Amino acid sequence: MFILQHLPIVCLVLSGQICVVSSLCSSKLENSLFDDLIGMMLKLKGSGHGGQGNTSTQKDTPAFTAYRNSIQSLSSNAVVKFDKLWTNTMNAYDVSTGVFTAPLPGLYHFSAVVMSEDGKTLFLHLWHNDTKTAGSYTQGDGYKTGTFDVVLTLKKGDRIYIRCKGGHDSQNIFSNGDNYGTFSGYLLVK
Ligand SMILES: *[C@@H]1O[C@H](CO)[C@@H](O)[C@H](O)[C@H]1NC(C)=O
Ligand SMILES: *[C@@H]1O[C@H](CO)[C@@H](O)[C@H](O)[C@H]1NC(C)=O
Repeated sequence: MFILQHLPIVCLVLSGQICVVSSLCSSKLENSLFDDLIGMMLKLKGSGHGGQGNTSTQKDTPAFTAYRNSIQSLSSNAVVKFDKLWTNTMNAYDVSTGVFTAPLPGLYHFSAVVMSEDGKTLFLHLWHNDTKTAGSYTQGDGYKTGTFDVVLTLKKGDRIYIRCKGGHDSQNIFSNGDNYGTFSGYLLVK
């Protein structure tokens, strides 16, 4: 820093632009300008790959995959409880309710795979708060899989969950130790 006080002109090349600080500036001003520029450069450096800037990390990016390894019996309008977790950063998915609550606003991707029992109907929707989005209807012989795949813009506090179609009692979502039912979601971009 003190070396610069003795230079008549300070040139800094920053993002292709040349900043010239006149030697007429008082050395106090030069010092404070220089501190500002150093600060800016450190911030720029930090924002790059492998830097130590305030980039998003796993800890502050909501992402979850929940699953079931057993059958759940569903009455009309019941929420499917994917009650086991592989991933749940920020604890935004609640295994006790089956509801994901957005901890941050942004664009999110959600997907799910559900399996019906042999010969039984399974009729579900993915809900955004009180609005129905994608549906899955599986029916007939054999164990069948239904899928969900949506990208949604959420506000903080918005809820996402998978729920049984109204008027369809005694449905079963099938799973066992091979984990046939999964529900995933993550923040794409804030
Ligand atoms: C850095 O990121 C954290 C977590 O998202 C946030 O709470 C904090 O305000 C950020 N700090 C700055 C200086 O942007
Ligand atoms: C969704 O519901 C939550 C409360 O459960 C509320 O805070 C939020 O504003 C609602 N979002 C929309 C888009 O209505």
